[in-house]
Amino acid sequence: MEGLTQQRPRQLETPANLRVHHLHDAIDDDLTLVRSGIFASQPWLHPKFFYDARGSALFDAITETPEYYPTRTEAAIFTRHVDDMLARAESRKVLVEPGSGSCEKALTLLQDHRLTHYAPIEISREYLVDCCVKLARHRPDLAVDAICGDFVRCNVLPDTVPEEGRLIFFPGSTIGNFDPEHARSLLENFHSLAGTSGGYLLIGTDLPKGRKILEAAYNDSQGFTARFNRNILDHLNTRLDCEFVPEDYQHKAFYNDALGRIEMHLLCQKDTQVRIGQEYTCLSAGQSIHTENSYKYRPEAFRELAVTAGFTPVDCWTDDNSWFAVHLLKAA
Ligand code: AVJ
Repeated sequence: MEGLTQQRPRQLETPANLRVHHLHDAIDDDLTLVRSGIFASQPWLHPKFFYDARGSALFDAITETPEYYPTRTEAAIFTRHVDDMLARAESRKVLVEPGSGSCEKALTLLQDHRLTHYAPIEISREYLVDCCVKLARHRPDLAVDAICGDFVRCNVLPDTVPEEGRLIFFPGSTIGNFDPEHARSLLENFHSLAGTSGGYLLIGTDLPKGRKILEAAYNDSQGFTARFNRNILDHLNTRLDCEFVPEDYQHKAFYNDALGRIEMHLLCQKDTQVRIGQEYTCLSAGQSIHTENSYKYRPEAFRELAVTAGFTPVDCWTDDNSWFAVHLLKAA
């Protein structure tokens, strides 16, 4: 298929049930994306740049802090309702997970013997391959198609992934990172990945709640979120032809009530120079680089959005505090 090449992982003993696919590299596009963000009147960076190996590890550390409630709240919803969720997605066969990270969240679902295929899509390549080698060894009965690349760009799956019974799994409130109009086009993309022969989407969304709880979750006292935020600059310095001075920036996160989202910024502590490819610019003290939004959707608002992308709501599960929601939607 277009844009995908198939490659065996470098490990000496590749499990026979694992295939690794690579979405073609788009470093030029990425540099253009960085440039268009940094030269905007409110400078911004795309949050996908958080996730190099260190960023993924820092994110995992965030999820273990007492303040960051989403991951453990969502996990508890899954533990409690997984049988019900699976039963409602009747024709399930293939679990497709855009932005799989460590693939750990899928393990509970993959206990289900009707799910015989797993297709994670993850931008952090080494991380994905390592996790999938382990998974495939541990589960020789499972066919694993690991897709290395940006899930936003992945609108067709390799033909080794069966078309019937695709269950798209998008937990963690990652949908909250996209502005509503981009969220809708991503949902449309998921709709086409799911296909019409028994396709479903199982998706986690964070819910609006008190400002204190929200803001604490993005300002953990051990400083993992601050390191995660600044790491975006280290990542760009190493992977792209960019030069930022990470020490010149401070982590800042707050709830924007009017827009229903957490905003993360890197606040310039002093005037600082930035180089992107051949171009230089200066950011002055007090300016910020906007690095992430995390939208909090009321269940009705999210359902409305999903319906505009072609989905039919099936069910929705939440925790006792109503802090987090998991929606099941049908593609047909
Ligand atoms: C993984 C994108 C859902 O928005 O809560 C955690 C990322 N950023 N702390 C979120 C994140 C800062 C997280 N998502």
